Amino acid sequence: MTVTTAQQLTVPSPRGRCPLDVPPAYQQAAQETPVVRIGLPFGEDCWLITRYEDVRAVLTDSRFSADATRPGFPLISEELRAMAAATRSTDAFVNEQEHLRRRRMLTTEFKAKRVEALRPEIQQMVDDTLDQMIAGGSPADLMADFAVPVGSGVIALLLGVPTMDTKYFQERSHVLLDEAAKSEEKMAAQRDLMEYVVGLTVDKQQNPDEGFLSRLVERGELTGEEVAGSGLLLLLAGHETTAAMIALSIIALHRNPEQQVLLRQDPSLVKGAVEEMLRYATLVQNGLGRVAVEDAVIGGQLIRAGEGVLCMLSTANRDEEVFPGGGHLDVTRPARGHMSFGYGLHQCVGQSLARAELQIALGTLLRRLPELRLDVPVEELGFRYRAGLYAVDALPVAW
Ligand code: HEM
Repeated sequence: MTVTTAQQLTVPSPRGRCPLDVPPAYQQAAQETPVVRIGLPFGEDCWLITRYEDVRAVLTDSRFSADATRPGFPLISEELRAMAAATRSTDAFVNEQEHLRRRRMLTTEFKAKRVEALRPEIQQMVDDTLDQMIAGGSPADLMADFAVPVGSGVIALLLGVPTMDTKYFQERSHVLLDEAAKSEEKMAAQRDLMEYVVGLTVDKQQNPDEGFLSRLVERGELTGEEVAGSGLLLLLAGHETTAAMIALSIIALHRNPEQQVLLRQDPSLVKGAVEEMLRYATLVQNGLGRVAVEDAVIGGQLIRAGEGVLCMLSTANRDEEVFPGGGHLDVTRPARGHMSFGYGLHQCVGQSLARAELQIALGTLLRRLPELRLDVPVEELGFRYRAGLYAVDALPVAW
């Protein structure tokens, strides 16, 4: 295979005309040089992996590490670099052996049966949040008035945050994930939330309930601080992701009205439609970073120990070999094999919860607001082109 050292290609790269299309530079790489050397904003290089098969190969290969503190790991923003340095000594979840131990505990908690049992409460919370948005009158900001409170509300439910604290929890979570917030504000919010979750964990030790924190405490395998750390990890990983996905799904349906009609006519399509939205919009827009710990050959290209790779989920999700016509949204497509939750050792622990939440949120919005529509042209939406997660700052809607 020919390999270029195409330094013109950088991550992040600008999107094309349609804000839900993959950046043209990545698509071009996928067609021409599926494993290509690229530049990163800090002047470092890494390999960009764009094809479905190659992305899967890297993500299941133990010769590639997800430990962002290792030299050579591709970090595409100052913030990620600072976070990696800060977590070096404190976050055991990035250490490989410790990761497996903690992950096992979380996957037990996210078994389909447990998540299914949460559905009625999620439905209630989605309905209550929507009641409030509707009571505020049309137009509204679907992000601030629905998607974000639903995202953090579900994590609050999971952790067993008492109702009286939900507002505080949501407000602090919002600041933590707010693109516009200053970094001191974000750090203060993270501190407050950590303190809060530590306090909550102590409370669950004394007054156990059915929630996730209580169960982790009961198992007795983690210290109080570690239990609280796991709680905060879920908040960070599971709150903004689902909120952003709700907003992107509504935008995708707006741009594909015939798909919206299909979905409104047959609500049983919602399960498959959520998979298709996850595939089509690929939230993790700048790829998953890994660093080779041994030499490895991927897609015919030798990657040396110490070199970083970025697995581009968005191009893998549109790989014509796996998803024919993948550039189009098709809510009837069997899209479940998409890469949006990653793959292999670090595949998203919360995916069954995310799926349940998205199915309920989207199904409820379409059912209860038959006239739901964007209140501004798509071109006026503030897309977060550079952030790790693709999202919009606000989503004005009317009904
Ligand atoms: C649409 C929603 C979501 C998307 C697109 C998403 C995506 C991802 C991806 C791509 C990874 C893999 C990272 C890597 O390999 O480096 C991941 C990991 C993870 N996700 Fe999610 N996620 C979502 C929702 C959630 C939710 C709701 C939770 C929990 C409540 C969650 C918890 C986690 C955790 C704990 C990990 C780390 C797993 C590990 O390293 O072993 N995610 N997620």
